Amino acid sequence: MKIDTISCKPIAGQKPGTSGLRKKTRVFMEPGYLENFIQSVFNAIDGAQGKCFVVGGDGRYFNRQAIQKILKMAAANGAAKVIVGQNGLLSTPAASNLIRKYKTDGGLILSASHNPGGIDEDFGIKYNVPNGGPAPENITAAIYDQTCSLSEYKIADEPIIDLGSIGERKMGEMIVDVIDPVADYKALMASLFDFVHIRNLFAGGFTMVFDAMHAVTGPYAKAILEGALGAPEGTVINAIPSEDFGGGHPDPNPVWAKGLMDLMMSTNAPYLGAASDGDGDRNMIIGRNAYVTPSDSLAVLAANAHFAPAYREGLSGIARSMPTSAACDRVAAKMHIGCYETPTGWKFFGNLLDADKVTICGEESAGTGSNHVREKDGLWAVLLWLNILAERREPVKDILLDHWKHYGRDYYSRYDYEAIPAEDANKLVDDLRAQLDSLPGKSFAGLKVTKADEFSYNDPVDGSVSTGQGLRVWFEGDARVVFRLSGTGTEGATLRVYLEQYVDTHGNHTQDPQVALKGVVAAMLEMTDLGNRIGRTEPNVIT
Ligand code: G1P
Ligand code: ZN
Repeated sequence: MKIDTISCKPIAGQKPGTSGLRKKTRVFMEPGYLENFIQSVFNAIDGAQGKCFVVGGDGRYFNRQAIQKILKMAAANGAAKVIVGQNGLLSTPAASNLIRKYKTDGGLILSASHNPGGIDEDFGIKYNVPNGGPAPENITAAIYDQTCSLSEYKIADEPIIDLGSIGERKMGEMIVDVIDPVADYKALMASLFDFVHIRNLFAGGFTMVFDAMHAVTGPYAKAILEGALGAPEGTVINAIPSEDFGGGHPDPNPVWAKGLMDLMMSTNAPYLGAASDGDGDRNMIIGRNAYVTPSDSLAVLAANAHFAPAYREGLSGIARSMPTSAACDRVAAKMHIGCYETPTGWKFFGNLLDADKVTICGEESAGTGSNHVREKDGLWAVLLWLNILAERREPVKDILLDHWKHYGRDYYSRYDYEAIPAEDANKLVDDLRAQLDSLPGKSFAGLKVTKADEFSYNDPVDGSVSTGQGLRVWFEGDARVVFRLSGTGTEGATLRVYLEQYVDTHGNHTQDPQVALKGVVAAMLEMTDLGNRIGRTEPNVIT
């Protein structure tokens, strides 16, 4: 095997964000761009010599070309083996499972998650560590350091590998094992859930629609829902992964999965609607006439997890990202188990899961998962809902109402202000940060601030500290607003404003969330003077 050592210059801007490195696809296609990052990953983990990696992606534009480059670089850097999903496909949770199951040295996952795909859209790459989870901050920092000082990379001068058929092949000495991307994941799901009861549910006429949004979960959902669980053919829609996700945003929320949302609110609605994102780690759950917010879904799943065999013995604890609503905290309190609040991003759950401090975790951004892998897992959440429905035999809406009757309801919404000039966004956040200490006692639109701070996280397992993780303002009457800037965007800055209003067990649980949150929204707008600062008060996306 001929190995080329190519001299290169460091490339600016390769700092991994909330979830790996994300850029415009054309940026990733620039000569040396991907190579720089991959070599930096290998260098940051003391080289690839003799190691085994998992590689796969969500099938977006440039996925296959990127994988071929990674294979050549892995071979040139002395890797012993790379496990690749057939046709280069692996969902993020399936990749996490493979990394763990085959005790590999980690994996490279190619995806920009829910961001659109295509030559003019987004691409991304993320290194996951041997526990199957996203690299923690000390490793992403080491990778970034490498990208800033790299002077050469190694790449094999070899023909491309056939990824279309399953089987082992070789690139020089390195084994390339092309595997069925679904099989191991399907076996894992069958080990967690009661497939017999879920089969019976479908056999009894239960109907659902799963929208794979032209993304990677199509083959997984087909094999599991329509295959193993006997749901009728056609249950899974938009099931074939496409390079540009059918021209849409593969983001499972009421805005981007509007067709599914409309169906679920109509008289023809099936019993359950679900969707997942580009790389299969996010999920959306909708009952007939009942959208389940991700924060509520986390709480309901935690409260009912014992219906599934894997969680029958109970949960060791629950974790949520800070901006996620407090709904799951109420469940943890009733169960007398630990509850942890982490910064945004799945990487912060890894230590808690490894130390068995938590079993289930989730984020308001449609991410839910458990200790079965070290990533959030869209299809897992859908299957846990199905397992619960198979046991409780009640409509999703009734399960929600019953939940709120026991715990009260955390009305919740997130407002995204996209493509703000980065300067304006930073100034807004800086000014608000400077005011934090003086806010308590002041009133905005009639709501008095009780507390305000900037979130920083002390990891209880390894003692690491992550500062600057979002500004929090609490108001009297159990309301909270959180502000943070997105770490996954590729254009300008996105301000995320998270709004929350608790209504206790005796209150009204059936309001439109936007009505229930009106007072909090008014207070937020007055406090930030958002209209004058960014020229608009209406967000681009409300979830
Ligand atoms: C967003 C979500 C966050 C999630 C991440 C990756 O990050 O808010 O919860 O972990 O995508 O899916 P953000 O753009 O807010 O940094
Ligand atoms: Zn994703």
